[in-house]
Amino acid sequence: MSSNDFLVLKNITKAFGKSVVIDNLDLTIKRGTMVTLLGPSGCGKTTVLRLVAGLESPTSGQIFIDGEDVTKSSIQNRDICIVFQSYALFPHMSIGDNVGYGLRMQGVNAEERKQRVKEALELVDLAGFEDRFVDQISGGQQQRVALARALVLKPKVLLFDEPLSNLDANLRRSMREKIRELQQRLGITSLYVTHDQTEAFAVSDEVIVMHKGKIMQKAPAKELYLRPNSLFLANFMGESSIFAGTLSQGNVNVNGYQFPLANAEQFGLADGECLVGIRPEAVSLKNTGEASQQCQIKSAVYMGNHWEIVAEWGGKDLLVNGKPEDFDPNAQQAYVHLSEQGVFLLAKE
Ligand SMILES: Nc1ncnc2c1ncn2[C@@H]1O[C@H](COP(=O)(O)OP(=O)(O)O)[C@@H](O)[C@H]1O
Ligand SMILES: [Mg+2]
Repeated sequence: MSSNDFLVLKNITKAFGKSVVIDNLDLTIKRGTMVTLLGPSGCGKTTVLRLVAGLESPTSGQIFIDGEDVTKSSIQNRDICIVFQSYALFPHMSIGDNVGYGLRMQGVNAEERKQRVKEALELVDLAGFEDRFVDQISGGQQQRVALARALVLKPKVLLFDEPLSNLDANLRRSMREKIRELQQRLGITSLYVTHDQTEAFAVSDEVIVMHKGKIMQKAPAKELYLRPNSLFLANFMGESSIFAGTLSQGNVNVNGYQFPLANAEQFGLADGECLVGIRPEAVSLKNTGEASQQCQIKSAVYMGNHWEIVAEWGGKDLLVNGKPEDFDPNAQQAYVHLSEQGVFLLAKE
């Protein structure tokens, strides 16, 4: 463990009765970074947060915070805050008292409390809201109060459990930008849980994709997208079409169409048969090409900034993201050209 490994989960397993919900999970978050757990409902995300916070104890395994084994520490001694989907504010208390509640529990005196509450509200752009009540502010503002209530305590680790799920789309975007900005500015080590890919990409240094209590891949967003490590990831993360192909000395062959893939090595495959994943935006449809590149247009839907096209190529569907100026909607057929960015290789199953 390096001194920069701030939150570390080692071989964590959690079973409820006979059902194993978290299966031998290893996870490291570097000091001051934000990592997202992304996965469908029921895959175990909240359970991981509850284990980190000390609301559950693991069946086996260890949890470290800043080098210290906290596996058996109480909730209070872990110095962690969680921001939930439901804001869980006290309706009978003013905003200032809500934000200052944790400080009061810690015995911080009134004067310092007032100052820190003021600063925390400023951080979330709610300066001067101390005397209002919860029912006098909007849902988005309530979630910012919940964030201020966590930030004011200056926790070692900040946990977020789908914090934006109750907000509408516009607010979700501005709130996630706010969370990311504050997390970076204050350098708080954070673990963020969501089932929303856009959110995961927007807020985090690294994304961990979870499935049935296991980690499927952990990487920065761009790498997850450009280099998924399995068919599961390829299908989970964005759209792609998967073809059988071959790799030979940096050249890929699909349906008889051969093209060089300069970054082929990074996929770690030996020459021979493989699977070739093609992201829709890696395809351009042109008027000319070899016979092997010829495809039939099955459908094309205008989406404003692009066409969503399904072409049939070598007997299989190929999803294409067509640029409006390039694509002729009356075309019956076209030729497939691939750009390297957005083509990935996987081992044959
Ligand atoms: N206290 C519990 N007792 C029994 N099963 C639980 C308990 N908490 C969670 N689970 C089960 O663990 C699995 C993962 O739940 P959870 O961590 O809440 O998933 P997520 O947050 O990804 O939706 C689910 O199948 C859920 O039913
Ligand atoms: Mg959950």
